[in-house]
Amino acid sequence: MPMRSDAVVLFGVTGDLVSKKLFPALYELTRRGRLDVPVIGVARSPWDDQQLVSTARKSVSEANAEVDDEAFDALARNLSMISGDYADPFTYQRLAERLRDAERPIFYLAIPPAVFGAVVDGLAAAGLAERGRVIVEKPFGRDLTSSRELDRTLRAAFDPRRVFRIDHYLGKEAVEGLYAFRFANRLFEPLWNSEHIDNIQVTLAEGFGTQGRAGFYDRVGATRDVLQNHILQVVALIAMDAPAADDIDAFREAESAVLRQIEPLSPDSTVRGQYAGYRDEPGVAPDSNTETFVATRLTVNSPRWAGVPFYLRTGKSLPGTATEVVVEFKQPQRSLIPAENGAQAPANLLRFRLGRGDGITMSIQAKSPGAEVTSRPVDLSVDFGAAFGRRQEAYERLLDDAMDGQHLRFARAETIEQEWRIVGPILDLAAEVQSYDKGTWGPADADALAGGWHTPDLR
Ligand code: BG6
Repeated sequence: MPMRSDAVVLFGVTGDLVSKKLFPALYELTRRGRLDVPVIGVARSPWDDQQLVSTARKSVSEANAEVDDEAFDALARNLSMISGDYADPFTYQRLAERLRDAERPIFYLAIPPAVFGAVVDGLAAAGLAERGRVIVEKPFGRDLTSSRELDRTLRAAFDPRRVFRIDHYLGKEAVEGLYAFRFANRLFEPLWNSEHIDNIQVTLAEGFGTQGRAGFYDRVGATRDVLQNHILQVVALIAMDAPAADDIDAFREAESAVLRQIEPLSPDSTVRGQYAGYRDEPGVAPDSNTETFVATRLTVNSPRWAGVPFYLRTGKSLPGTATEVVVEFKQPQRSLIPAENGAQAPANLLRFRLGRGDGITMSIQAKSPGAEVTSRPVDLSVDFGAAFGRRQEAYERLLDDAMDGQHLRFARAETIEQEWRIVGPILDLAAEVQSYDKGTWGPADADALAGGWHTPDLR
């Protein structure tokens, strides 16, 4: 097993990601005895150590109803700050000085793509890249070409085995659970194909807007922000074949193989929307054509999925927050038992809740009470929180893994390239986005696309 990292460096430490996700993750790791090494924040803003500690305290308090003061103090003792320009060699000299006792530092690049090259070059020039690991946050480029370019920059400085590309959905227990559900059970895999499945829907809905990130978001949009990465990652886990062996390489190969079978998305079966009022937000261009909603139909070109549409949608300011996969099965081959109203009974559904309130619900038909033999839908449901208690958050697991040099839950370069290939034709479309009211399920055309979306279980 590779040796554990002995220092953590957070580039972009004053940003949103660090305060929302990484400080709580570092605190949890400290609390569990998994982290007691220097944690150095780097940013352009002129922060001192005190400011870093108080920001960390605030973010840990926001993420936890109760903070274990002893654990937080232990983390605080390890925190220190370096303020400096990313293009200035002096920034890296100071960092090298601070890291003189660290043999295997890990660098977390929570920075915009525009400064990515400067940081990688700065680390390399200071001799830090050759002994370090690097964690790269999305957005990983803007398209296939820029993503390849970023990858070349990274590879010029870091050995590929020491590069960790984050898609935090891979760190979610419930997302990883899709794989376990399919391959740890005998029950469903025989049905996991076009003979039995009618369609698959993936929804990543958010009941809030850009939450003060409009300046970032307006340059990105829903397709690049979550469809290219999180949603396609979920599709891969749902659609992939069983790996040829029980090891990381075989798993990742099976995942890449299914991505290669996915056809590029077509503008003709894509609906892009923007919520009313978005253009008035600070940081948004007044004539912005950035989509805050996208719905599309995806095709997996394989015998297993022939003729099975995958409907995908995501958006901000929708009626609520939920990430779900709904697998809709076909009707029984002979329909002997009508529904109570004499109509056709609704299809069997498997609903995987991947976000808040994660779990699985299976909707089946049961005999309705009474003399008539008719059916009524009932749910068999499990709530993972109730069944398993608190589970680790995605960033906590991923940081822990990367510090151990474990790649299983990180995206391969090829995966990211395939994802860009798939979304390529729907990036930067000239057609005007369609407006939708906040609190609705996006533009009306999106409803027509799927011919019946299943409303997510909003919790
Ligand atoms: C991030 C996006 O990658 O994922 C955000 O940048 C989005 O815009 C978030 O809100 C969704 O992640 P989660 O874990 O809250 O579902």
